[in-house]
Amino acid sequence: METDICKHIAIIMDGNGRWAKKRGMPRSFGHKKGAENVIEITRAAKDAGVKYLTLYAFSTENWQRSKEEVDALMQLLREYLDKGFKDIMENNVRIRFIGEKKMLAPDILEKMRAIEDKSADNTALTLCVALSYGSRQEILSAVKKTAQLVAEKKVTIGEIDQALFSANLYTADIPDPDILIRTSGEQRISNYLLWQLAYTELFFTDTLWPDFDKNELLTILENFSMRERRYGKS
Ligand code: FPP
Repeated sequence: METDICKHIAIIMDGNGRWAKKRGMPRSFGHKKGAENVIEITRAAKDAGVKYLTLYAFSTENWQRSKEEVDALMQLLREYLDKGFKDIMENNVRIRFIGEKKMLAPDILEKMRAIEDKSADNTALTLCVALSYGSRQEILSAVKKTAQLVAEKKVTIGEIDQALFSANLYTADIPDPDILIRTSGEQRISNYLLWQLAYTELFFTDTLWPDFDKNELLTILENFSMRERRYGKS
């Protein structure tokens, strides 16, 4: 299925822990399955003609989880950056990371930089991974950058508009999401893309992230195009 209507999908990948618990397994097992599903869903989104996919992989709040779980997630990230690399290049996917990068370990930062550089000319889909990400922190950082421009007399207060402000967010150059999906039955935004989601259509599903599949993604895209036809864009 080709969709020329939805350019950008954002996802809150929730429910890995519950998925593992239901199977009597540790939470890290759910995260591992979740990471495998990142590869599946990236491919499915690309095949459906979506140009941007933004995934909430690790929030600023997630640093407060147990050391054991944080370490397991960071280890998984290392593996994803190593093993997922081949898949990213084969699928012509460009990868970008958004978030408070200074919180991450130097070896992870180095892997992130390398994969961002190597994939920079890929054109099929941009995979934007939110890591150590918090939207209020992002907005504050954009406020500070904008204030700096005023302090340096590069812009006047009157010249500050939505476009200028957006250009100072981590997501500069990325269009706002058309669709937000949150898995696992929770209906919250959880400090995710607060500015960017202003006009986004919201989809909540009870499916736990490791079980969320291509068919469900395509159903949501179909549903989105019907909403678009019915209500038009506001
Ligand atoms: C929410 O499940 C998920 C996360 C906190 C992390 C999401 C991470 C992945 C899908 C894997 C890592 C991704 C990459 C790119 C390597 P939860 O633990 O909150 O589940 P629960 O609500 O059932 O406890």
